[in-house]
Amino acid sequence: MISKAWISAFYEKEFGKKPSCFRAPGRINLIGEHTDYNQGFVMPAGIDFYCYVAISDTQAHSSSIIACDYQEKFSFNSLPEKPTSTHWVNYILGVIKAMNKRGKVLPFFNAIIQSDIPVGAGLSSSAALESVFAKAFNTFFNLGFSSMELALIAREAENDFVGLQCGIMDMFASIHAKENHAIRLDCRSLEYEYFPLELADNKIVLFDTCIKHELASSEYNQRRKECEAAVSRLNQLGHRVESLRGVDVSMLHAEKSQLDTLLYKRAKYVIEENARVDKFSKAISTSDWATAGSYLYGSHDGLKNDYEVSCKELDLLVDVARESEGVWGARMMGGGFGGCTINLVKEDKVEEVIEHVKTSYSDTFGVAPKYYIATTGNGACEI
Ligand code: GLA
Repeated sequence: MISKAWISAFYEKEFGKKPSCFRAPGRINLIGEHTDYNQGFVMPAGIDFYCYVAISDTQAHSSSIIACDYQEKFSFNSLPEKPTSTHWVNYILGVIKAMNKRGKVLPFFNAIIQSDIPVGAGLSSSAALESVFAKAFNTFFNLGFSSMELALIAREAENDFVGLQCGIMDMFASIHAKENHAIRLDCRSLEYEYFPLELADNKIVLFDTCIKHELASSEYNQRRKECEAAVSRLNQLGHRVESLRGVDVSMLHAEKSQLDTLLYKRAKYVIEENARVDKFSKAISTSDWATAGSYLYGSHDGLKNDYEVSCKELDLLVDVARESEGVWGARMMGGGFGGCTINLVKEDKVEEVIEHVKTSYSDTFGVAPKYYIATTGNGACEI
């Protein structure tokens, strides 16, 4: 268990002074996948796993950051122009760059990072890293950015410096998360509301494939381009839409024959998924677990067949969930090509379901999946 006392003591030993400490959570996403960069709706929540940072200023003429998990130290006195070969540091340099662009130049600092968010599990460990540094710089150096600006800064770090054209969901969740709540975010207006996660006698269980296929980020960027291409084509056909958010089912059906089949499938998935976010949240708020679960399965089917971002490991986890008593619904979560599935499970069946899924998965792939019973956590803060 990482604690403030631990990271603070480590910092003092390393840098000889008391630091300020911050943390930001990873995230789950109940529903609304690949909708954020299409200006649609998402429903993430903070998960009770965090990235921790201890930070203070320094008299030295360079900044140093130690990543405990990798036992690596990175020092710099001017900002590298391009991403470095030390992968984890790029997320932080990207945040500094985005802040510089907004007219805030940071003094030199020393920092230590440690995280208990599983890496590669689709729980947004990198968004948490960006978010915790955005929060730490903002608070420690009194930069005056709002929480919304911090989320945008963190996204810019990922888009412009790291090079993944992701949407706003992960950073937004890591900064704004609230215990026992999901966030219903409209990614077009950035309006959001906290949605109480009252799941009665149900639990959210995550099964982790423990794999991340190589093509994950190139395919991700490719999906984004395909969605943009669908929008351009609809505009060529005489419509006036800025994103797939502006397209409804009837428009899409009417233009089906004019659209490339692949683009049609991508657009269809996004439009249906946006509608599912609303229907899912209504079902949850009336405790209609079976209906809510059917939207989770619907989301998975769309991600698998129309959006084509699933993989055999994720599909197997969802197939096994489908045949397990006590599972209301399941789907792959996050960008795809590995990571976790999210499952809504009756509390008294959780153990049975875990055993069943572990056995079926090991029988096929020769290794057991990891699993987590998700509890929610609060967004980026000083601790
Ligand atoms: C990744 C991205 C998010 C979002 C999801 C898919 O987590 O970082 O912006 O697009 O994939 O919903």
